[in-house]
Amino acid sequence: MRILIVGGGAREHALAWRLSHDPGVEVIGAPGNAGTAAIGRNVELDPTDANRVVALAKQESADLAVVGPEAPLVAGVVDALRANGIDAFGPDRNAAQLEGSKIFSKEFMARHDIPTAGFRVFDDPDAATRYIEEASRPLVVKADGLAAGKGVIVASTAAEAVAGVDRIMRERAFGDAGDRVLIEECLVGQEVSYHVVADGKRFIPLAPAQDHKRAYDGDEGPNTGGMGAYSPPPVVTPEVEQKILDRVIDPTLQGMAVEGRPFRGALFVGLMIVEGEPWVLEYNVRFGDPECQTLVTRWAGSILPIVVGSARGDLGDLRPRWEAPASLCVVLASGGYPGSYEKGKPITGLEEADALSNVTVFHAGTRLERDTVVTSGGRVLSVTAIGADIDQAAARAYEAADMIDFEGKHLRRDIGWRARTR
Ligand code: AMP
Ligand code: GLY
Repeated sequence: MRILIVGGGAREHALAWRLSHDPGVEVIGAPGNAGTAAIGRNVELDPTDANRVVALAKQESADLAVVGPEAPLVAGVVDALRANGIDAFGPDRNAAQLEGSKIFSKEFMARHDIPTAGFRVFDDPDAATRYIEEASRPLVVKADGLAAGKGVIVASTAAEAVAGVDRIMRERAFGDAGDRVLIEECLVGQEVSYHVVADGKRFIPLAPAQDHKRAYDGDEGPNTGGMGAYSPPPVVTPEVEQKILDRVIDPTLQGMAVEGRPFRGALFVGLMIVEGEPWVLEYNVRFGDPECQTLVTRWAGSILPIVVGSARGDLGDLRPRWEAPASLCVVLASGGYPGSYEKGKPITGLEEADALSNVTVFHAGTRLERDTVVTSGGRVLSVTAIGADIDQAAARAYEAADMIDFEGKHLRRDIGWRARTR
């Protein structure tokens, strides 16, 4: 079976790695990175160019395409693949609106009584500013459309919130994504990432995970795509998990089906757990990165039946089995990320780190230059380890992370701090 993996991050390497464990599976990274090149091969393309993705899938006689990132999903790459008779894992454009428009997702939650922070929508910056000045409490300002995780301002003062509106709506820092803004109440609690795989009718719950979005230790500094993750987080007790399933996942998937937007693929709900109650912060219509790296390493056996079942709209009674009790992923980033950084730095110690037992090193921003793997992005590697508990997984992951080096390497030392005892 030939599988096209659309995207080029560590999430895509992790999915390709797991899928390639199945006998007879061949993976093609589109565009991939040095990690997917090592287990298959890569073809350079823009993953949001639906025509190019379809042409490549046909040219390679691909049996399946797995679309990793949100941008191609929102751009309708899955619609184009299916229209050409190619099975695709991921939601179509209509279902991807859950992530593609934050306003759509908030109004959807309101229609279906799904717990989320109170909100207002504005298409006029003056009206948004007046609202903020009258509200005089902590608020969160969000650009409506996709902004690569940067279009959200958690404001502790009215001045910060107004500056957010200016940046999104007047300076148009995120282009059309800032035509409208969402202003919501600020929730205080612990964030959790909850994933399910759906087939349009049914779903399979995966394990909960927790991301670390800020750049520096102690959850300080600017927001990033994610500096590390672990699974499972203790805040998700069986009671909390049941509430997530009953109050969030079930009504979301049923609501989407009722509205004529049946959801197929991975749905990742970003939640704030406030005193044991789940509140939705956002929907993502794909696996989280780095959450995915912790999920696929905990998984026992093949993920292929679930991926194919979801793509074809029939999951049957499949259930994942979690073999490793815990997994933890440490991201190695380029110095300066999430701001500007240099590329092309040679990376050493990769093979030694990957050879440690219970460790897998997933590539993100890497590229092969002659025979050397060099950096080519902000998040460079996802060093992931499994263990009997989070402490063990963390010790292993950091042992491996310390074996790898490149100029400017930056990592957080406290991934999993909420669950670690040493
Ligand atoms: P989003 O892309 O909507 O998940 O927002 C990015 C980040 O902003 C989230 O991961 C949270 O850390 C934070 N955030 C978003 N909405 C809220 C909210 N209503 N209250 C508190 N923090 C929030
Ligand atoms: N790790 C958060 C995300 O993938 O959006």
